[in-house]
Amino acid sequence: MQLITKCGIKLTSDKFPNREVKYYDYSASYIISQVEQSLKNLNTDYIDVLLLHRPSPFFNPEEVARTFDHLTSSGKVLHYGVSNFLPQQLESLQAYTTAPLVTNQIEISPYCLEHFENQNLDYLISKKIKPMSWSPLAGGELLFPKTEKGTRVLNAIKKVAKELHEPNIDKVIYQWLLKHPSNIIPVIGTGKIERIKTAVRSLDMEMTLEQWFQIYIAALGKELP
Ligand SMILES: NC(=O)c1ccc[n+]([C@@H]2O[C@H](COP(=O)([O-])OP(=O)(O)OC[C@H]3O[C@@H](n4cnc5c(N)ncnc54)[C@H](OP(=O)(O)O)[C@@H]3O)[C@@H](O)[C@H]2O)c1
Repeated sequence: MQLITKCGIKLTSDKFPNREVKYYDYSASYIISQVEQSLKNLNTDYIDVLLLHRPSPFFNPEEVARTFDHLTSSGKVLHYGVSNFLPQQLESLQAYTTAPLVTNQIEISPYCLEHFENQNLDYLISKKIKPMSWSPLAGGELLFPKTEKGTRVLNAIKKVAKELHEPNIDKVIYQWLLKHPSNIIPVIGTGKIERIKTAVRSLDMEMTLEQWFQIYIAALGKELP
């Protein structure tokens, strides 16, 4: 088991009455304070992977890299990654960090094709960086769609599930992610043990390339050129 957590977003809430807006903070002091808080919350001595939650318009990669080195030498963090970064933003940080960044946690699902289309996945493949996919089931939209697009994609997934004699729709969605050559690691949102077990079993199934594309094309909403 590995512990992975994120840092960098300052939220507004009743806990922070003096904070007027939500903003991002990648200063050394804030990253370190968030790590200390995570160690406390998770009751652990170290974090396996620390992610920067979102790219920021105010970002000093040199300061972040120095902070990573400090956290590494104190034994509090083993590896680093990013989340929601585009290739150039990842490169900019990587140019300063000692250790290679190990992941980019991005939204990927049969509902969200953004990172297939903006070449982020091609970039991660070229760097041999495994992406993590947040909201792999589109936060439930793919199981209980509220939009026309969600219904369209679910129908394609159901068709493939029927062909594979697979009663679990979620397994088919996870397999769609796992089949991709970029080695996607789904970050599943459920805390229900039976659903987690089902997710693990999706490693044992396979779909054909044509079935993968049937789901992709349903999400795209048009034929490929
Ligand atoms: N990096 C980022 O910017 C970012 C942004 C958003 C999220 N995340 C991360 O990604 C994680 C996953 O996101 P997510 O929660 O949107 O994930 P998700 O797995 O796409 O959706 C989870 C939702 O689907 C439901 N669900 C799962 N399996 C189901 C099943 N078999 N049948 C019916 N409902 C099912 C869950 O309900 P139950 O709980 O009832 O099972 C939950 O409401 C989050 O916990 C967070 O750590 C990261």
